[in-house]
Amino acid sequence: MSTDFRKSTVYQIYPKSFCDTNNDGLGDLRGVIEKLDYIKELGVDYIWLTPFFVSPQNDNGYDVEDYYNIDPRYGTMADVEELIAEGKKRGIGLMFDMVFNHVSTRHEWFRKAMDGDPYYKDFFFFRKGKGKDVPPTNWESKFGGNAWEYVEKFDEYYLHLFDVTQADLNWDNENVRKEIQKIVRFWMDKGVRGFRFDVVNLISKAAFEDDETGDGRKYYTDGPNIHKYLKELHDMTFGTDAEILTVGEMSSTSIENCYQYAGADTGELSMVFSFHHLKVDFMGNEKWVLVPADFGKLKKIIFEWQTKMAEHNAWNAVFWCNHDQPRVVSRFGDEGKYWKESAKMLATIIHCLRGTPYVYQGEEIGMTNTDFTEISRFKDVESLNHYQILQDKGLSASDALRIVQVHSRDNGRTPMQWNDSAYAGFTSADSEEPWIGVNSNYTKINAASQLEDPDSIFHYYQKLIALRKEVDVIAFGDIEPLAESHPSVFAYRRTYEGHELIVAANFYGRECCWKDAPDMSGFEKLTGNYHEETAPKNGEWTLKPYEAQVWYK
Ligand code: GLC
Ligand code: CA
Repeated sequence: MSTDFRKSTVYQIYPKSFCDTNNDGLGDLRGVIEKLDYIKELGVDYIWLTPFFVSPQNDNGYDVEDYYNIDPRYGTMADVEELIAEGKKRGIGLMFDMVFNHVSTRHEWFRKAMDGDPYYKDFFFFRKGKGKDVPPTNWESKFGGNAWEYVEKFDEYYLHLFDVTQADLNWDNENVRKEIQKIVRFWMDKGVRGFRFDVVNLISKAAFEDDETGDGRKYYTDGPNIHKYLKELHDMTFGTDAEILTVGEMSSTSIENCYQYAGADTGELSMVFSFHHLKVDFMGNEKWVLVPADFGKLKKIIFEWQTKMAEHNAWNAVFWCNHDQPRVVSRFGDEGKYWKESAKMLATIIHCLRGTPYVYQGEEIGMTNTDFTEISRFKDVESLNHYQILQDKGLSASDALRIVQVHSRDNGRTPMQWNDSAYAGFTSADSEEPWIGVNSNYTKINAASQLEDPDSIFHYYQKLIALRKEVDVIAFGDIEPLAESHPSVFAYRRTYEGHELIVAANFYGRECCWKDAPDMSGFEKLTGNYHEETAPKNGEWTLKPYEAQVWYK
């Protein structure tokens, strides 16, 4: 395991969809333990597990009822302890996912608030409406509808930026912050080696005012006390152990704030997830539309974050996929003819960037979006809400479904495809139906077949993960964008202590030519997704469909 996060790679597991060992159709922690050798083989240093704490599961565990106990559907505390110990044996650190912007309305704190206990009422944002049936502000919930829920007995509303069963916590209350520190220390004492903090840049609310021009996010994104609260959390908890890796999930953040969040010596977090590069197939901030991905914008955003974060000595998490995103091979690659080439090309781009790469379960075998053709097969609260909202806006059911099929978070949540047996080996043949449908392409796309094939997507990821450890320019180098205005080429140069790395990728399924390609004399090819080399000739580089190459000097 590399304890320098610049050389590390993180593997993300969504336990509910990873591996089911007791045949109830839900993945569990014992399933993760069972698959540790598989993860070890990939070569990663950390596993980030999405939440498995006690929860009503209205948002699949991001609605936490009790941070100190394990949801019995996932396992027991003994399983967690075993998982941490077994990970450690294999040199893999466990990262937990801490949801502190909100709690489930079934959390004890919220229940006490609802009983009228003023100490706990102040853990949340209860506010009077602006008039009868008029909520305190016009802010929108990220899952659709107004962000305030009326409570008759108080004649007040409480704030929920997400589902109505996810009540926002009042971080301005010092007692809330102390409780949170206690939780983090509890898990540190159990041997957890890292934390991912859920939507953590939303915890400091500015003012409760109507947003005349938007959905309210300007009043709570990167809010006034955010840096103070993160520094305090750092100092009181994980800051005492320099080897703990932390990553903040930063919703709609600005790069200027991220210099602070993830600066090498700002005393906040190790790195950040930002999402601007994954909105290039949205219309502005509007996700529930169908527009083609804007490649020029994608490059511009990635390069801007790469170069500016480097200039400010701050660190990025680099990724295409997680449990909230569609599968990248379906989104920016090709599920059909160039499935393998495009999956490898996309991996190449991410894994040679400056930052810590994150691989989301199934990405390493090129899993694709769902093949659901009926709304009843979708489970995600956000997708179901927006399916309704789109129809309320006048779209037909089939048009609404089409949008959901493309953008649903469930695309990333279908069961991991382990082999070609029933239910893809996620659970056994005689078990309950999996909680969400298995993609029918599992007979072709599965881990078992890829472990046997030396040319598989899995082995390509393995190679890229190993290269980051072996080749210092990948881990430490500066970055310079290349071919910035080329309509198909994604390319960049990394430099470190006299060494150079050139990454060149064709983002599309047609051969393309990169004129004024760099001089590659003295370079050797480190890896690529085609076996024959197409080195540049006289400053021109012809790249095959979805071809990607990495060269080193
Ligand atoms: C984050 C999580 C997402 C969850 C939301 C609310 O964005 O990744 O899955 O729904 O926060 O907790
Ligand atoms: Ca289970």
